[in-house]
Amino acid sequence: MKGLILGGGKGTRLRPLTLNTPKPIVPVANRPFLLYQIDLMKTAGIDEIILSLAYLPRKIEDLLKDGADFDVRVRYAVESEPLGTAGAFKNAEEWIDEPAVVFNGDVLTSLDLPAVIAAHRERGAVATIVLTPVDDPSAYGLVEHDDDGRVTRFLEKPDMDAITSNQINAGTYVLEPRVFEHIPGGRPYSFERELFPALLEAGLPVYAYTSDCYWIDIGTPRHYLEAHMDILAGRFHSPSIPPTTLETGGVENDASIDERSLIAPGVSIGRGARIASSVIGPSCRIREGARVVDSVVWPGATIEEHASVTGSILGRSCSVGRSAVLRSGTVLGGMSSITDFSSL
Ligand code: GDD
Ligand code: MG
Repeated sequence: MKGLILGGGKGTRLRPLTLNTPKPIVPVANRPFLLYQIDLMKTAGIDEIILSLAYLPRKIEDLLKDGADFDVRVRYAVESEPLGTAGAFKNAEEWIDEPAVVFNGDVLTSLDLPAVIAAHRERGAVATIVLTPVDDPSAYGLVEHDDDGRVTRFLEKPDMDAITSNQINAGTYVLEPRVFEHIPGGRPYSFERELFPALLEAGLPVYAYTSDCYWIDIGTPRHYLEAHMDILAGRFHSPSIPPTTLETGGVENDASIDERSLIAPGVSIGRGARIASSVIGPSCRIREGARVVDSVVWPGATIEEHASVTGSILGRSCSVGRSAVLRSGTVLGGMSSITDFSSL
């Protein structure tokens, strides 16, 4: 079984965070996001993973290299122009001569991947699509299936009046190499809008695997923050999340840091500062009396005296001035500088 991760989207909904950092490697709990997906692939014994990239591929290649640091073999299939989800898969055809697990590169999940693969084999499917329930399917791909789990309809981003269930495409597939025959080469092609409807039209066995495991698409600021709150509350668990290791001298005695928060190495926290339910990246400086609550702060930020940051995401190396107030929903791009006493 091969693995392929689709990571070529521009991440527009996560801008400005993705202007310099492609979505597959935005930090999640102080770890590049892709590593969670690699962990999951490994649970199914997959040790060769193709990264399908188009946007800022070098940043991802520089981080993962040949995968040796992460105990997998990583190959890169880079598109000069985005080829769409199925076109990107086709672009890696030369490396895939056996069934493959394909992930959308922005889904955090505790899916039982070996069980999905077993179900795929048992049913003799050409494609198995993992489904998950959500409150509002309109932002996803709606999938209908019969009582035996055979998919009968795939409808991407349905209009409100076309919503027939709450089961959506979770962005995880097992695909037989024969689906390549149904994907035209060298031009953009979509799994969701073209390939899946075409396989159904051709009467091929496409099956659903319904899971109610933890699942979230981190591709919007709201969901990115929500994924962090879920991690801090223990709703998503990974043994690989780096624990807080406070260095002696880095934290003043009367600073308050709740047990949930994750603080990376090299962070300094001043007197009377308060951190609650937040993730603080490496080398951040939180000055005297500052508060950071329900927030995610990327590496290298400075939050000055008595500033207050709530429900916010701060990109790399931001600076928040003295007594500035950042309220819920604030998203700062990398290197942003917020002047003293500002209120956002
Ligand atoms: N290589 C490559 N080339 N990757 C691409 C391209 C491309 O042209 N276009 C998109 N991708 C990657 C993105 O980087 C992302 O990891 C994944 O494909 C899905 O793209 P999104 O832009 O995040 O799609 P979505 O979230 O709106 O919808 C998709 O995911 C939903 C689940 O989160 C669809 O698959 C829906 O059906 C699904 O419900
Ligand atoms: Mg997405």
